[in-house]
Amino acid sequence: MCGIVAAVADRDIVPVLLEGLRKLEYRGYDSAGLALIDADGLRRLRAVGRVSGLAAQVEESHVSGHIGISHTRWATHGVPCERNAHPHISGGLAVVHNGIIENHEALRLRLKGEGYEFTSDTDTEVVAHLIASELKKTADFFTAARTAIAQLQGAFAIAVLRQDNPDRLVVAREGAPLLLGLAEDGNYAASDVAALLQVTRRIVYLENGDCAELTRDGFRITRVDGTPVERAETESQLSADAVELGQYRHYMQKEIFEQPVALSNTLEMLGTARSIQPGLFGADTESLLKDARQVLIIACGTSYHAGLVARYWLEAIAGIPCNVEVASEYRYRESVSDPDTLVVTLSQSGETADTLAALEHAKAQGMTRTLCICNVPESSLVRANALRFITRAGPEIGVASTKAFTTQLAALYLLTLILAKLRGRLSPALEASELQALRHLPSALTKVLELEPQIREWSERFAMKQDALFLGRGRHYPIALEGALKLKEITYIHAEAYPAGELKHGPLALVDKEMPVIAVAPNDILLEKLKSNLQEVRARGGELYVFADADSEMMASDGIHLMRLPEHYGQLSALLHVVPLQLLAYHVALVRGTDVDKPRNLAKSVTVE
Ligand code: G6P
Repeated sequence: MCGIVAAVADRDIVPVLLEGLRKLEYRGYDSAGLALIDADGLRRLRAVGRVSGLAAQVEESHVSGHIGISHTRWATHGVPCERNAHPHISGGLAVVHNGIIENHEALRLRLKGEGYEFTSDTDTEVVAHLIASELKKTADFFTAARTAIAQLQGAFAIAVLRQDNPDRLVVAREGAPLLLGLAEDGNYAASDVAALLQVTRRIVYLENGDCAELTRDGFRITRVDGTPVERAETESQLSADAVELGQYRHYMQKEIFEQPVALSNTLEMLGTARSIQPGLFGADTESLLKDARQVLIIACGTSYHAGLVARYWLEAIAGIPCNVEVASEYRYRESVSDPDTLVVTLSQSGETADTLAALEHAKAQGMTRTLCICNVPESSLVRANALRFITRAGPEIGVASTKAFTTQLAALYLLTLILAKLRGRLSPALEASELQALRHLPSALTKVLELEPQIREWSERFAMKQDALFLGRGRHYPIALEGALKLKEITYIHAEAYPAGELKHGPLALVDKEMPVIAVAPNDILLEKLKSNLQEVRARGGELYVFADADSEMMASDGIHLMRLPEHYGQLSALLHVVPLQLLAYHVALVRGTDVDKPRNLAKSVTVE
């Protein structure tokens, strides 16, 4: 979602702002803008569409400066248009904002009463006027900004600059990510480290409720009431290459093909041992997991699908009851809580607003055994959990999640094994063989990727379709859900997924020769049942595309297209079966010419609810 980059430095900061915004493009946005102070005072440029449009304006107008703020906007309040693009201005100050100001209507009314005129439909504009209004009471920019910020409700990250204080920036964070970057030539702020690697690796993460004042030579952090606080400086380990496209056409393609490496990095800590080391999720792993009576998994989007797969594992292998909840539902649901529940939050970004709020809701219900599985070590979610497992997929840039999903599954399988062991359900021999199966996953997955040419052929036939139906059973039903999600996210083809046994209860009515039906058909105990379901489709003229296993007896025939995965992978087969579905969505998107990495209306990091 919205991205912020701000800078005060000796150098011309315009190229830094633009490069930073480019690095944040993956978050999803529909307009971009910047404001800076030069010899003529406050200057603002805004463009609907891509950062390249803003860069063209910069080139035309030859702006440069030593202090500036910039923004990519993902529309929430008001359509994407130049008038609504950030920065928003009041008098001589400019504001960029990520998040939602929930009390913007009340503030707007009050500010209109004070004579402020609004030129946009955004909630952000109230922040600009509110700070301007506070500046009538105090001459101190930082104090005025803090006093205004204290009146805001909602989740936000904010950066402000002011013509009358051309040497300082004010930034604040409450519920949306924001960090500072410290460099020899100046100081910077951004939503994401990736935006600042071009200038520094020295990072200070702000906490919720922090405000900071940045000058060329230093910074100070206070709480919103002005109480000074210290935040540790860390050295980012993120490699600049990790966010480069390299030989690939799209990040999604790169990330699909990175899955074997992502898995081996994630599982590296297993080493060659025949048993799982205690403490894999943190020092208190054993004490927090041992007496857990049930598991509650909370997540959104693709991460939610990983949770759905894990439920099958946790109940079958560890024998522990498990519920999986969509975070945006759970946080507002009046649920029955049990303090002995292990609450597992799953998130690639660790910044998803609903997942963070759902975790707080669970904690407020007295559930303190918390574990997150997350791909971003410095994220808000990681800091909010008692236990953590960091998937080492590397930065995921494509909006449609791929390698984060498979690495989350690997982590969830480890969790299952640990719980099974603590509950006396994992013999040493079984433990050793399960670990071996995990270690072999990268090479098994590499072989699945070799199916790409066949999948590319299939994709030609899907490209003209309006709808698609995905079927699966058991732990492969969530894989069908994930396949349908991938297809709709990046190709805009309407896709639905059903547990195949539900076919007769509704979706069969949709089946005709125009509706491709994709079946996830591993060689497990449900295969015979699934085959009967597929016959029902065939009998109605439906065309079937079946992903089967190498050792399956299923055969291709008229109207049944069959692709075999190289290995039959037992419990872990979900990790392999999702890969052809990722590739299918990717290749259909290529044929349809959609924007694979930045699909319309979607954002990578959903930092508002
Ligand atoms: C967005 C992304 C999805 C992601 C979901 C949850 O919708 O586009 O790819 O699955 O958020 O994100 P998280 O970072 O919490 O896994």
